[in-house]
Amino acid sequence: MKALILSGGKGSRLYPLTYTNAKQLIPVANKPVLFRVIEAIRDAGITDIGIIIGIGENGRRVQEAVGQGRRWGVNVTYILQEAPLGLAHCVLIARDFLGDERFVMFLGDNVIEGGISNLIREFEQSGYNSQIVLTEVAEPQHYGVAELNPDRSIKRLVEKPRNPPSNLALVGIYMFDKHIHEAVRSIEPSWRGELEITDAIQWLVEHGYHVHPYIHRGWWIDTGKPIDMLDANSKVLEELTPEIRGFVDRDSKVDERVTVEEGAEIINSVVRGPTIIGENTRVVNSYIGPFTSIYHHCLVENAEIEHSLILEHSKIINVPARITDSLIGRNVELRHSELKPRALKLTLGDNSRLGLV
Ligand code: DAU
Repeated sequence: MKALILSGGKGSRLYPLTYTNAKQLIPVANKPVLFRVIEAIRDAGITDIGIIIGIGENGRRVQEAVGQGRRWGVNVTYILQEAPLGLAHCVLIARDFLGDERFVMFLGDNVIEGGISNLIREFEQSGYNSQIVLTEVAEPQHYGVAELNPDRSIKRLVEKPRNPPSNLALVGIYMFDKHIHEAVRSIEPSWRGELEITDAIQWLVEHGYHVHPYIHRGWWIDTGKPIDMLDANSKVLEELTPEIRGFVDRDSKVDERVTVEEGAEIINSVVRGPTIIGENTRVVNSYIGPFTSIYHHCLVENAEIEHSLILEHSKIINVPARITDSLIGRNVELRHSELKPRALKLTLGDNSRLGLV
């Protein structure tokens, strides 16, 4: 089997972080979501991976970060998509890479509990033409939605319906055989101008192919929005096996659910887990609360942070209010200054959000 990872798209709901970085490279629990996707595929025994990337800077960043995949023992082929024309368009342009083999398609911004090994095994051993993954969600109108028959077979699939026929959403993990290629060639773009994979699967159902719905019972997160990113971060942190590889001084209190990565230093601070402090990050005279990931080469001094995600090379110094539910990008500096006038001095990127107390 082969794998196709979708790592194009604009990531506009995560602006400003995604102006300068692909959304699939934003880390949860200090590891980019895309790396977690590659590991899940590798762990399921698949080593031939195609990655769809956009033609701009973000595509180049993905290529730089992943390379040929040797670090994971996989072989990566990049497929350039000139514009985000839809998930089924990705299958269309990956035709040469995929050939007639069965494959799994995995959206590069999805995080799922328990990996995909069982799913892949079930599909490999079956005669299904396709297997899709469904899970119950509170707001199905934001996803592809499945309506099942009383015998649990698929009746109908619709993309982001205004009046959802059920609360079963399509998870961004799909398995196909070669018949999907005819399906993606046969459908028309949707109202949002995209070739929808949901429509291609509906085409398979209508043409009598066997599409098997697998119901996923654990958690699953599509990290499209900042709140989803924080949710995914919390869920993955809870699964981590904590380890202290950095330095914790005697005046600090670090509980047993905290990971301190190599070269990190915790000085005179309290850290409550599940939390991860990244490589070469310093936490000094500070409180770091549960569900926080601080990436590498950061400095947190005289500050309090909880339920947040801080990206690399950022500095948070002498901040009088506790920072919570926040997503802070790379190379950000947040500090209290004694200089007059006493005023907020801000340099915020386009689409930044600042909640003042
Ligand atoms: O996450 C699950 C949902 O993913 C499904 O329930 C929906 O049925 C499916 O259409 C999709 O919806 P989204 O609107 O969330 O898809 P999004 O545009 O966020 O794209 C998903 C990933 O695929 C993302 O990593 C970017 C990448 N992508 C997207 C498009 C449209 C591409 O690489 N190329 C594209 O043309």
